[in-house]
Amino acid sequence: MTQASNGPALPPTEEELSRARLKLAVEGPVARVTISCPERRNAMTGRTWTTLAHIGQTLPEDVRIVVLSGEGDTFSAGIDLGMFSPEGVDGERSMVAGLADGTSTEAEIQDYIAGLQEGFLWLRRPDLVTVAAVRGHAIGAGFQLALSCDIRILADDAQLCMKEPALGLVPDLTGTKPLVDIVGVNRAVEICLTARRVGAREAGTLGLAELVVASDELPGTVDDAVAALLATDREAATATKALLQQAAGNTLQQQAEAERVAQASRLAALARGV
Ligand code: ACO
Repeated sequence: MTQASNGPALPPTEEELSRARLKLAVEGPVARVTISCPERRNAMTGRTWTTLAHIGQTLPEDVRIVVLSGEGDTFSAGIDLGMFSPEGVDGERSMVAGLADGTSTEAEIQDYIAGLQEGFLWLRRPDLVTVAAVRGHAIGAGFQLALSCDIRILADDAQLCMKEPALGLVPDLTGTKPLVDIVGVNRAVEICLTARRVGAREAGTLGLAELVVASDELPGTVDDAVAALLATDREAATATKALLQQAAGNTLQQQAEAERVAQASRLAALARGV
């Protein structure tokens, strides 16, 4: 990450974004991140995800909403399959070459993947609401990116596919937990191990989409959702998201306590006029 001397970390430059196949537009409280490689159906590389992490680390403090989308008719065709070739992609390391020739260990690959996962993990931050606007295919890493967001709004032509097992891989970009949390282990096994495409309507039924709309209504629907989200008090939104995120792992008593603690803190802040 670029670091100004003694100053805050700098966001990625236009050149860094372009090499990462990303576009970033920040306007007040809304950041729009677009995966931008339509000629390869917005296939992503390791650099896409490390740059996504960089974006998350350097967002202006007043950003509350992050909208993720893909340029053109596809959300993302997942990892650029060139990443599995010996030569890699655009000067980026191959995922397999080092293992094949013995110059990389499995532990090193785990560290490398941990860095890639950072590009997905920050989308769960309680101080942000993250929205995936999905049209067309969201395959493999593309599906996992959408799963990392709080809200998925799908065009009716969207198709979700966890392709990794069909390629001899596992989904490793933080998508398995939200998938299981949403659809349960059994449906997740069926979706992943058949690597079938889940259409938008079914995704809506399964809870994988909060909204499904006609393709031409996607931008307007996303804008409406952003406006509604911005109408909520920011501190309350942050505290509520944090509360909701811990609910599944808590007992009822633990969650009731967490609610009391969060509410007392909110009431104290309101009483202070903060
Ligand atoms: N990596 C690299 N290039 C890709 C990828 C990809 N994941 N997906 C598409 N492309 C390229 C194609 O090679 C093609 O390039 P070309 O014009 O030079 O021949 C171009 O994008 C257009 O692809 P088409 O297949 O012609 O587009 P179409 O609209 O018919 O199909 C689809 C789109 C369904 C996304 C198809 O391209 C596809 O299945 N891609 C591969 C998906 C995949 O296996 N992703 C990896 C999942 S695992 C993971 O993400 C960890």
